[in-house]
Amino acid sequence: MNDQHLRKLGERALAPETLMMGFGYDPFLSEGAIKPPLFQTSTFVFRSAEDGKRFFEVAYGLRDKGPDEALGLIYSRINNPNLEILEDRLAVWDGAEKALVFSTGMAAISAAVLSACRPGDVVLYTAPAYGGTEYLFDRILPRYGVGARPVDAAAPLEAQIAAIDEAIRTAADAGGRLAAVYVETPANPTNTLVDLAGLAAHLKTLPGEARPLLMVDNTFLGPLWQKPLQLGADLVLYSLTKYVGGHSDLIAGACMGRAEVMAQVGEMRTICGGVCDAHTAWLLLRSLETLKIRMERAASSAARIADHLRGHPRVQRVLTPGGPEADERQKAIFARQCAGAGATFGVELAGGEAEAFAALNRLRLFKLAVSLGGTESLASHPSSTTHSDYSTEAKRRCGIDDNLIRLSVGLEDPYDLIADLDQALGS
Ligand SMILES: Cc1ncc(COP(=O)(O)O)c(C=O)c1O
Repeated sequence: MNDQHLRKLGERALAPETLMMGFGYDPFLSEGAIKPPLFQTSTFVFRSAEDGKRFFEVAYGLRDKGPDEALGLIYSRINNPNLEILEDRLAVWDGAEKALVFSTGMAAISAAVLSACRPGDVVLYTAPAYGGTEYLFDRILPRYGVGARPVDAAAPLEAQIAAIDEAIRTAADAGGRLAAVYVETPANPTNTLVDLAGLAAHLKTLPGEARPLLMVDNTFLGPLWQKPLQLGADLVLYSLTKYVGGHSDLIAGACMGRAEVMAQVGEMRTICGGVCDAHTAWLLLRSLETLKIRMERAASSAARIADHLRGHPRVQRVLTPGGPEADERQKAIFARQCAGAGATFGVELAGGEAEAFAALNRLRLFKLAVSLGGTESLASHPSSTTHSDYSTEAKRRCGIDDNLIRLSVGLEDPYDLIADLDQALGS
C-alpha cells in the first residue's frame, strides 16, 4: 500500500518521528527503494510540450494549481524530489503549511527578509542575534533603502511593543512601513528569550496593511523545544546546518509558514537562486530520522553538564534558557514558550579573556570551533569570534563579555565531557 500521506492510524495522530521514516515518499515511483534515491539532476524531462507549458504556468504563478494537480518537476533551482520530500517532512515538525529549503541558513533569512521589504521600509530586530543576521540588517539592507533598528532581546515586552509602535510611526512618516519584526530566541550566545506570543498578540491588533510579519529564527530550540508558528509567528527560519543536519557535515537553511506568505519567499528563492542542492537535501532526510533522539540526548547531557558547572569554583554563571540564573521574566517566558532548554549554552568563567582562552586551549574532547548542534561537542569564545564585530558598548549591553565561552553539547558520554571540562578549568 502507498502510505506516503498517512498522518493518522484510526484516531491516532502519528508523531513527527514516526512520519520521518516515510512521509512524502512513494517507494513505487523509485523501483521500490526503501530510501528516496538521490535525484542528482539539474533538469527534468517533460513528457510533452503541453506538460512543460502547464508546469511553468503553475511555477511562475500564471494560474493556480488545480485541486489534484501536482507541480510537475521542472529544474532543480525550482523543484526536485529530494527537496520536496524534505520540505514536506520539515513542515510536519513545525505544523507549517509550506516549507522551503535553502543552501544556507543565511540564504533562508535573506530571502525571507528581502521578500517582505521595499525601499523605505524598516525591519525591527531583537539583539543580540547571530552575527551574519545583524550584518545583513545593519550593513546590507540600508544599501537598498531598507532601515534596520535593534531592540534589546532582554527588554520587557511593553518596551518591545513600544519600539514596534515607534518604528511603525517613524517608518510611516518617512513614507515606508515596518515590514518585519525579526526575533532570534533564544538569542545567540546569551540564551535570552523573547516572548513570541506576547509580540504576536500585539501585532494582531494592528490593521492588516500596517501589520509587519513576525519572523522567528528557531535554530537553537527548534523544531523540538519551541514552535513559533503555533505561538503566532508568520515565518519560522532555520539554519539546518545545526541540530537538524546534526552531524557538522552540511550547510543548509529553511523557511516555513503560511502558503500565502511563503509564495513570496519562494519567488525570491527561485530568482535569487539560494536553493538547497539535492545531495544536501538527501543527507538532511537521513538526519531527520534521528532528529528527536539526537536532540533529546544532547539536551539531557547538556542539563547534566550545566548543573555540574554551576557548582564549579571557576564558574561564575551558566546561561541556559530560563535557567536558575535567569530573572523571573525570563523564567516565565521559558515556562510558557519552551518545551526544553536545548543543548547550547554560555558559561561565564572567573577572570577575563586570558582565563577563558586558557580553559579553551586545555579542552581535549570539546573541539574549538564555531557552529553548534552536531554530534560532537564544540566550544567557542563568542566575544573574539562570532560576535567580534560588535562594539564594546554593544557587547556590554548584550552580556557578551570576554569571560564568556559557549558550549554546544553533542552525543558523547556526558561524564566524559564533564571530566574534560574539569581538567580544562582546573580547580
Ligand atoms: C541562530 C543562527 N541563525 C542563523 C545562522 C546562519 O546559518 P548558516 O551558517 O547555515 O547560514 C546561524 C549560524 O551560526 C545561527 O547560529
